[in-house]
Amino acid sequence: MPPYPTGSWMPVALSADLPAGTVMPAQSPAGPIALWRSHSGRAAAFADRCPHRGMRLSHGFVRGETLSCIYHGWSYAQAGNCLRIPAHPALTPPDTIRVATQPVEDGGGIIWISVGEPAAGPPRFEGLAPLRSMMVEADVAALEAAAGTKIGEGLLDYTHNSRTIRLLLAPEGQARTLMHVLVDEDSNPAELIATSRAAEALRRAAEHISLTGIAR
Ligand code: FES
Repeated sequence: MPPYPTGSWMPVALSADLPAGTVMPAQSPAGPIALWRSHSGRAAAFADRCPHRGMRLSHGFVRGETLSCIYHGWSYAQAGNCLRIPAHPALTPPDTIRVATQPVEDGGGIIWISVGEPAAGPPRFEGLAPLRSMMVEADVAALEAAAGTKIGEGLLDYTHNSRTIRLLLAPEGQARTLMHVLVDEDSNPAELIATSRAAEALRRAAEHISLTGIAR
């Protein structure tokens, strides 16, 4: 799934959007994931399906260093193995009961999951910091068309009202893209607002192209 082929890292969320002790749904090329952060601050990515009866683990809750399913309370360690089955408190769950996990890297304000087995860590964008994420109902090609340029070195540049903003894109399915907006680390509040508005303008333009096939 371009632009994240096997052997790369995909930016699935901003670190700030996943506080300690929370879980959220996200998408990877392998399917839906439950992205969660333990109370000590470590992020993990599970397949979003409980091995017991298939409940979405992104509906679950974090307790300490475990993620518990909302349905019958089975609890899983970050390595994916089941630690506790409340209906059988004396039982040590067999190691075969486990959730599929995906490697996670949390750095530079961005949470990445690996697509396949990358040879190196995820990219770092020196001097840039994440501002916000937004979902765009359009594919990467529509975003590139709206921006009038192609992704280069992992980022899409978009110039709006004399301001160039930098975007990190994560495709979600056929016509949906999660867009992370990056800003210069030393941006002032007015620049942050202008960058955010420029990103919203790009989103509208890309969604218009996606709907009509025509640039504004
Ligand atoms: S479906 Fe998850 S514990 Fe039963």
